[in-house]
Amino acid sequence: MEKEDLTLLVTGGAGFIGSNFIRTALEARPLWRIVNLDALTYAGNPGNLRDLPAMASSRHTFVHGDIRDGALVDHLFEEHHFDGVIHFAAESHVDRSILGPEAFVETNVVGTFRLLESSLRFWESAGRPRGFRFLHVSTDEVYGSLGPEGYFTEETPYDPSSPYSASKAASDHFVRAYYRTYGLPTVVTNCTNNYGPYQFPEKLIPLMILNILEEKPLPVYGDGLHVRDWLYVVDHCEALVTVLERGLPGETYNIGGGEEKTNIDMVHLLCDIVDERRGRNSGEAESRKLVRFVTDRPGHDRRYAISISKIREALGWSPRYSLREALSRTVDWYLQHMDWVEQVRTGEYRKWIGRNYEDR
Ligand code: NAD
Ligand code: TYD
Repeated sequence: MEKEDLTLLVTGGAGFIGSNFIRTALEARPLWRIVNLDALTYAGNPGNLRDLPAMASSRHTFVHGDIRDGALVDHLFEEHHFDGVIHFAAESHVDRSILGPEAFVETNVVGTFRLLESSLRFWESAGRPRGFRFLHVSTDEVYGSLGPEGYFTEETPYDPSSPYSASKAASDHFVRAYYRTYGLPTVVTNCTNNYGPYQFPEKLIPLMILNILEEKPLPVYGDGLHVRDWLYVVDHCEALVTVLERGLPGETYNIGGGEEKTNIDMVHLLCDIVDERRGRNSGEAESRKLVRFVTDRPGHDRRYAISISKIREALGWSPRYSLREALSRTVDWYLQHMDWVEQVRTGEYRKWIGRNYEDR
């Protein structure tokens, strides 16, 4: 992008990665302004941005609304003349997509389509500015499942397994089609599993940290030998700032942490970190006793791993944090923010945990 004083539309900025992105971006770029459009589903929480420092919060505007509301998004474009869009808003949890796929089609496919339409209308009416960017944040899950060897690259064919990854794949195709057909300057990023502060406790890492703290069973799906690559959310957000500023229209960039782990190894590592924090030495392995192998997730992808050669060589980004260090920071964050945990564990959350695990 050519300007330094950007005004950006961030969708889904009250969720996990979106709120971390707003914090990272406003602190790193003192001339940026962000309008944050979020529908505040169960996963969205304005409290995720309560700790923005004053120098950043004056450049952040929250708008409660749905990305499918084309009239609202058009109005925001008219009012703010955005230099770019960073699109996080989505239904993001695989297990929820198995129990109720429709919301995933609505937000991830229809919502992305409507956002592209509004962006295109504005971009054309503004004279097709070259510096405009539509940055679509997607997942490595669109590539399907790997065997024991090899890595996803930007050329790996799409082969999604779950309703979640199928809906993200569909949205990625729409984003690319708007570049090829209409010239809208879009960029797609596909990243691996994120972890860090403000992640809703339905996903593996926060769920396990909290269950360990509360000495509840640790439900590991299947044989626990499924492999994920883990990316610290702060590293991811820094990568997104880089892609926004220097990524090329029409391109895709894969983003990963270079930290592959089986789920059972990850759960054991979390047990050891929490036990250490409580002053037990990991040899006593207290929390590991809480592990329970439960019924596998249907269509469960065996392994994800990604090559970050392209973003490293083209844009000079690579992750700064090791898994061990960033996981320790994450555990500490949850220990220090139990008030946040209580706040997001609404009645709806409790019902979900009951429904998802009752027959496992
Ligand atoms: P999240 O579920 O924590 O947050 C999603 C946010 O989108 C919430 O604030 C929610 O209120 C908002 N939202 C949902 N539907 C909306 C709608 N119709 N209109 C406006 N806002 C709406 O998700 P996350 O983990 O922060 O993921 C952000 C993005 O990154 C998603 O697109 C996801 O597919 C992608 N991604 C996430 C991960 C991960 O590990 N979390 C990995 C790869 C890609
Ligand atoms: P998750 O955090 O849901 O992310 P994704 O499905 O998008 O990769 O799950 C990460 C891995 O952990 C995945 O292989 C499923 C597994 N998992 C469990 O074994 N137990 C759990 O309770 C959860 C939520 C996930």
